[in-house]
Amino acid sequence: MESAGNVLSAALLCCALLTRDFSRHPDSFFLNCAVGILLYNDLKGSLKRFCGWDNWPCVVETSINDKELALFGGGGFSLTPKQFDTQLFSILFNKVDLEPDSVFLKRLDDTLRLHKKFSKNSNESSAVVIQRIGDARRTGIRVAPHTCIRESIFAEPRIDHHFQHQEVQETRRSRPYRMTLVDLGCCMGTDLRKLVVDGFPVLDIMGLDIENRFFDIGRLMYNEGDTPSIKFKQTDALDPLFCERNARLESKFDFVHSANVLHLFQTEGQLAFIRSMAFLVKPGGLMWGRQVGLANGPDGAKYKHEEGKGTRFTAGEFKELILDATGWREEDIVYRSGLVAYSELRIVKPGKNWVLQWSVRVPFDKTPGARRITELVE
Ligand SMILES: C[S@@+](CC[C@H](N)C(=O)[O-])C[C@H]1O[C@@H](n2cnc3c(N)ncnc32)[C@H](O)[C@@H]1O
Repeated sequence: MESAGNVLSAALLCCALLTRDFSRHPDSFFLNCAVGILLYNDLKGSLKRFCGWDNWPCVVETSINDKELALFGGGGFSLTPKQFDTQLFSILFNKVDLEPDSVFLKRLDDTLRLHKKFSKNSNESSAVVIQRIGDARRTGIRVAPHTCIRESIFAEPRIDHHFQHQEVQETRRSRPYRMTLVDLGCCMGTDLRKLVVDGFPVLDIMGLDIENRFFDIGRLMYNEGDTPSIKFKQTDALDPLFCERNARLESKFDFVHSANVLHLFQTEGQLAFIRSMAFLVKPGGLMWGRQVGLANGPDGAKYKHEEGKGTRFTAGEFKELILDATGWREEDIVYRSGLVAYSELRIVKPGKNWVLQWSVRVPFDKTPGARRITELVE
């Protein structure tokens, strides 16, 4: 009875929002009531049905258990009255409330696809997956409260937003030999898992990160079984002894990727990080990545040296940084870049308007750069 009351009150809330006089239109009143009940029981499905919205923020509290979710059932996610209010508020006012126990997903279907591929139980409900993402978020924040973890972005694939993604997959498919890829600063490995879902052989990719607890949190989040998994290795890309400690990885990878890491560092740190990427990549291979960037012009520049933040660069400045770091000449590399709106963020921040996507085709003779890299880290 109590839940029936909650359903009705939420439905009436929807009607009330229309602020219309229904006294002479009881049919409209009951129609709105029915829509309200549908919204309450299956918010996402109903919004898709009525408005065609597929990627609106999904807010699901992970503190409710599976049994409670099953009770409300009905195909989509079922919400408690408090959650319903949060949802409605988010949608109406375009605001996402980052509660500590909540998960916010923009790409729900793509996210669930990753779990279906890696989980030892491919038939598990979406609610169970969301609950595990919530657990990973809570634990991950305690390890390091990166924006991508606080805002649940870590659980969503993003590598396919990069202009280079499709070409990388096509190149790999077209070659008669195996090609390898490493992600530097891979966190829980979501981008790597996306590559696997899109066909990259799991044995040909590797994740590196300074924080090995993220690897375990990732394995738990994806509920991995005994099937061959992605290799992960703990390493500090800024370590002056990076080359010695990773000697076996020198020039090992056709593709060296890094996302949302460089902007954490000041310029000196970024130079060291790029040298580590250059150390890992094969001659003639590809380095590619993305991080918060700057638009050309006076507006962007003021965020460059914001207190406590890493340095941001325009596309042109970043090319110079790569040349500085590696010792390669401009005519020996192919540098491509694009500045795109940072649309994955849940909360808009003035210093994070732009993502700089970039790629560098590495020279076939990378010796001058490699020699300088070794000299510079010694
Ligand atoms: C903001 S997260 C980005 C994670 C992931 N690449 C993504 O795009 O969602 C930054 C990641 O870089 C890692 N990291 C920070 N400093 C690092 C370093 N010196 N060497 C290697 N990884 C580092 C962090 O542990 C974290 O996993």
